[in-house]
Amino acid sequence: MNTWNIIVEGFNKAEVTKHESIFSLGNGAMGMRANFEEDYTGDTLQGSYIGGVYYPDKTRVGWWKNGYPEYFAKVLNAPSWIGLHIKIDGELLDLNTCLEVKNFRRQLNMKEGWYERRFTATLPNGVEIAVKVVRLLSLRYDEIGALRYEISPLNADTSIEIESYLDSGIKNNDANWDELFWNTLEISSENNCATILAETKKTAFKVQTFMENHLFIEGKELNISEKENRKENYIGLQYEVTVKQNQTFRIEKYGGYTPLTKSKTLSKVRDAQALTFEGLLEMQKEDWAAIWETSDIVIEGDEKAQQGIRFNIFQLNQTYQGKYAHLNIGPKGFTGEKYGGSTYWDTEAYCLPFYMATKGAEVARNLLLYRYKQLPQAIENAQKLGFTGGAALYPMVTMNGEECHNEWEITFEEIHRNGAIAFAIYNYTRYTGDESYLKEYGMEVLIAIARFWAQRVNFSEEKKQYVILGVTGPNEYENNVNNNFYTNYLASWCLSYAATMALKYKSEKQWVTIKELKEWSDIVEHMYLPYSEKYDVYLQQDGFLDKDLKPVSAIPTGERPLNQHWSWDRILRSPYIKQADTLQGFYFFEERFTKEQLQKHYEFYEPFTVHESSLSPCVHSVLASALGKTEEAYALYLRTARLDLDDYNKEVHEGLHITSMAGTWLSIVEGFAGMRVKNGALTFTPRLPKQWKRLSFKVIFRGEVKEVII
Ligand code: BGC
Repeated sequence: MNTWNIIVEGFNKAEVTKHESIFSLGNGAMGMRANFEEDYTGDTLQGSYIGGVYYPDKTRVGWWKNGYPEYFAKVLNAPSWIGLHIKIDGELLDLNTCLEVKNFRRQLNMKEGWYERRFTATLPNGVEIAVKVVRLLSLRYDEIGALRYEISPLNADTSIEIESYLDSGIKNNDANWDELFWNTLEISSENNCATILAETKKTAFKVQTFMENHLFIEGKELNISEKENRKENYIGLQYEVTVKQNQTFRIEKYGGYTPLTKSKTLSKVRDAQALTFEGLLEMQKEDWAAIWETSDIVIEGDEKAQQGIRFNIFQLNQTYQGKYAHLNIGPKGFTGEKYGGSTYWDTEAYCLPFYMATKGAEVARNLLLYRYKQLPQAIENAQKLGFTGGAALYPMVTMNGEECHNEWEITFEEIHRNGAIAFAIYNYTRYTGDESYLKEYGMEVLIAIARFWAQRVNFSEEKKQYVILGVTGPNEYENNVNNNFYTNYLASWCLSYAATMALKYKSEKQWVTIKELKEWSDIVEHMYLPYSEKYDVYLQQDGFLDKDLKPVSAIPTGERPLNQHWSWDRILRSPYIKQADTLQGFYFFEERFTKEQLQKHYEFYEPFTVHESSLSPCVHSVLASALGKTEEAYALYLRTARLDLDDYNKEVHEGLHITSMAGTWLSIVEGFAGMRVKNGALTFTPRLPKQWKRLSFKVIFRGEVKEVII
C-alpha cells in the first residue's frame, strides 16, 4: 500500500461517483469533485464549489411551522472550467460508450497535492488512444487551477477536435425548485482565453470563471487559432489537430474563479500562464511540503492506518486553510452538495483542535471570530423563537449567521450546538493560554448563550429540579426527548462557566446582573440529570430504559446502516444510537468524571451505538484509549480514518466526511498519544495499538512547535 498516494485501478462504471468524491481537489478557497474533463454519459455527480458562495434556496416542506427559516443556504455548484469535448476522428470520447477501457488508473498524490488519471480506450470507431491527465488547484494562487490533458493515438494517425469550454448553465442536484442559481452576465474571449461573468441569484455574488488553453504536439507548442462556440451560458474554444500514431497531443488548461473585473481576471490568467504548468506544480509541491512539515503524523508498522490519517489530514487542508475569516469548514468541504450550509457544530466540537495544533492559534481564533461576528443573527434567531434579553441561539446550519436548516426536530430542538460553541471558547483558552479572545469577544458570546439556556430550562414542580424538554441530542435517532443528559449537562456547564468568567473579568465590564447570576447558579445547582440506580449510569434521556434494549450485535446482518434499511419510526423507537451522545459529554468533560464512571458509561452505551454519523467512532475511540481498551480503540480508529476510503457508511458518492476527519486526528493525538492540556502544559499518556512500532507528530503549542515521538 502506498501511504502517500491513493491509487485505484480498473474502470468500474458503478464506482465513478464514489471516486469522484475520493479524488476531489481543493485549496481552501475552491474545490471540485474528480469529474472527468471529457464527456461522460454515465452516472456522475458534477461538482465545483467556491468557498463562501452560496444560494438561499427557498424552503420546501410539507407542513410549514412558525419559526422555520425561509431558506436553506446551499453550497453552490459553480460554473465549470475543466470541461473538454473531445472528438477522435469525428467520434466523441465518452468512457461510457467506448468499446473497451483498459489500464484505467486514478492517483491522488497527497504529498504533492495533485491528481492524475490515465486510461487506454477504444472508441466505437475502433481508434485506440492513451490518455493521461494531471490536475491541481494551486495553494499559492488560490484562484487558479490547471490541468494537463495528453492524448496519444495508438493504432492510427488521427484527427483530434477539442472544444475547451466554460459552462455557467449548471444546476445543483439538490435544488429545491429545480432552478438555475446563476445568471450569466457577460461572456468574452480573446487569444485562447475566455471568461464568463456570472452572478448568483438573490445573493449577487459576482464571479468571473476563466480559462486559457495551450496546445502542444510532442512537447512543441502549436500556434493555432481557435474557433468560438458561444451560447447563452457557455463558451467553447475549438481546435483541430492531426496527430500521428504514437505521438502525444497535449492541452494545458488554466482556469478558476475571481471576483475581479474582466481585465484584471485576464491579467491573472496571464500570470498563471507565465507560471507554466510545471511551475505551478513545483510550487504546489513546496507548499504541500510546508503543510506536511507541521501536520504529518507518521505511524510505523501499519500502512492502512498511515494512509488513512494522511488522507484525512490532506482533505482537511484542502478544505480550510484559515486564510479568510468568512470561510469555515463544511461537513462535505468541496466534495459534494449534501449538508448544504457550510457551518455546523462540527467546527467547534471536532475541527478546532486540529487546526489549533497544526496551524496555530491565529487560525483557531479566526474560527471563533466567525461565530462572534454572527452573534447578532444568533440573537435574532433566538428572538424569532420567543427568547428575550440578548439570548442567542446559534444556527444548526449556516452560511451567513442565519439558520438555514428546516427540519423542526433539528432547527428547534438540536440546541446542544450552542453549548459546543461555548466549549470551543473554553478549549481555545485552555490550549493557547490566550485570554484576550475571551475578554475582547468571547465573553459576549458566552453570556448570550448562557442567557438562552437560562430561559430554555424550566423548573419542574414535580422533580423540584430544572429540566430541558423537547430536544434532540447529538443522537439524531431520537427526537423530541426530555432531559437529554448531554444537553442538560452542557447547559449547566455553560451557565457555570459564563458566571465564573463574568466574575473573573468583572473589572472589564459588568457582564451580568446579580439577579441573573443568582438564577444561573440556582439552575446549575438544581439541574436534573436522568440517572439509573440499577446500572449506575446517566441515561441518555428520560425513558431510555423503557426501550427494547438489545445490543447492536442483535441486528440481523444486512440491515445496517439502519438509515438505509429501517423506517424512520422504527429507528426512533429503537435503542440504537446514531453517534456519541452521553459519551460526547464524557469526552468534553472527562476531568469531571472518574475513570470508573467513564468505564461504566462506555460499556453501557457502546453496545447500542451504530456509529451512523461519521462523527461518532472518533469520540468512542478516544474514550476507549483512555480506558486502556486499545484494540477496541484501534478498530474504531480504522473506522473513522478509513470511513470514506473503505466506504463504511455506503454514502461516499455524495461527498467526503470532512469534519469527522478532524475526529480521526483526535483519535490519534488525544486517543493513542493521550495528549491533554493540564495546568497550562501538555501531558501524554501513550497507548499504541500493538502493530504500531512508532508514532510521531508535531503540535504547535503556545507558539512553539513540539515534536512528539512515541
Ligand atoms: C450529524 C450531525 C452533524 C451533521 C453534519 C449529521 O449526520 O448527526 O451531528 O452535525 O451530520 O456533519
